[in-house]
Amino acid sequence: MKVLVVGSGGREHALCWALAASPLADELYCAPGNAGIGQEAVCVDIAADDIEGLTRFARQQSIDLVVVGPEGPLVAGLVDALEAVGIKAFGPSKAAAELEGSKGFMKDLCAKYNIPTARYRRFTQNQLDAARSYAREIGAPLVIKADGLAAGKGVIIADRVKLAERVITDALLDSCFGEAGTEIVIEEFLEGEEASAFALVDGKTALMMPGAQDHKRAYDGDTGPNTGGMGAYSPAPILTDAMNERVRREIIQPTVDAMRAEGRPFTGVLYAGLMIHEGEPKLLEYNVRFGDPECQVLMMRMMSDLLPALLAACDGVLDSLDLRWYAESALCVVMAARGYPGEYAKGEEIRNVEQADAQTDVTVFHAGTKRDEESQMLSKGRLLSNGGRVLGVTALGNSLREAHARAYAAAEMIYWPGGFYRRDIGWRALGEDTLPSPD
Ligand code: AMP
Ligand code: GLY
Repeated sequence: MKVLVVGSGGREHALCWALAASPLADELYCAPGNAGIGQEAVCVDIAADDIEGLTRFARQQSIDLVVVGPEGPLVAGLVDALEAVGIKAFGPSKAAAELEGSKGFMKDLCAKYNIPTARYRRFTQNQLDAARSYAREIGAPLVIKADGLAAGKGVIIADRVKLAERVITDALLDSCFGEAGTEIVIEEFLEGEEASAFALVDGKTALMMPGAQDHKRAYDGDTGPNTGGMGAYSPAPILTDAMNERVRREIIQPTVDAMRAEGRPFTGVLYAGLMIHEGEPKLLEYNVRFGDPECQVLMMRMMSDLLPALLAACDGVLDSLDLRWYAESALCVVMAARGYPGEYAKGEEIRNVEQADAQTDVTVFHAGTKRDEESQMLSKGRLLSNGGRVLGVTALGNSLREAHARAYAAAEMIYWPGGFYRRDIGWRALGEDTLPSPD
């Protein structure tokens, strides 16, 4: 089969790595890819949001399956465009991707079908007074969210009602969330511990994958600005098998059924961001794709061939599929450019990635990397940073503690003075004694 993966992050490297191991994959392409993906697949210089370019390429090459990594092209309708020209694509249609594309849509669906989530209301630009009075009604802390995609920057938690009122005013009058936030959702703050549940969905059946937890804040101790994710691990102790099954029964399957009933059948990966409090799971948000870096730890733990699983989801036959996973734990440490998620430099040389990658049960997935073109003629080309999140040093171990030790030992081998990484990935699961001593 000919397979095309769309995207250029650690998630897409992990997907390419898993697909390259499939005996069914004869040719593997990735658009646009990165330096690491180039070792598994042929990288094609087409942007992930270039729907026309991707569709043209897939037709020209007679691609048998397109696997879409990021949410942007899904929400923009890439899967619809591919299917319109007869190309099979893994991922939700534009209508189904609204689960991530519009927080208001997601909340309304939950309300209509009794799916447990935080109490909320939606407001548009001409409802400023109503929005402020709703904020006073639910009281602090409360959460204000941009309706649309905002690359992780569309959520503000206000610990005082005054602050909430200011954020609401900025959002509705001054569009501080940009295009994503001309409409907002205001919701109650949920206490608890966060976890991510993942299901492979074929329109009607949801097959749960192992859970994971990530670390969204940039710095140690879960401080600093929100990022796409600075590390992840799986399994997540809080998502026991029983809890994962409960999440399927109470949240995921009702959503899949609801989407079908609404005439927007969902196919692809449904990723539920959960808050679990006193044993009760509630939905914080839906994403319509694999998490990144969560995908990196999931792919390390996957024993089954990924390709037939994705095809079964596209073909609506997941009920006859049995996914197998290694019992081992996996942990990923993200190396990012200093300054991320704000301003950062690109084009810095990174060394010793091969050595780190060669360690037992370690895979270094690439995100923002590229090869130095000038030196490409001489040898393989120097490895350069080319983005905010740059590498995902991911390890398997018999325990989470072993995976943690392996991932950090490998990360320490990598020479990149301009990079940084959190030293406390997994602390919640591993206990405080694994935290670095303050220096
Ligand atoms: P979201 O993009 O909706 O997942 O929000 C990003 C982050 O904001 C989540 O991972 C949570 O840490 C936090 N968050 C969002 N909604 C709530 C809520 N209702 N209560 C508490 N924290 C929330
Ligand atoms: N790691 C969070 C996300 O992929 O959205």
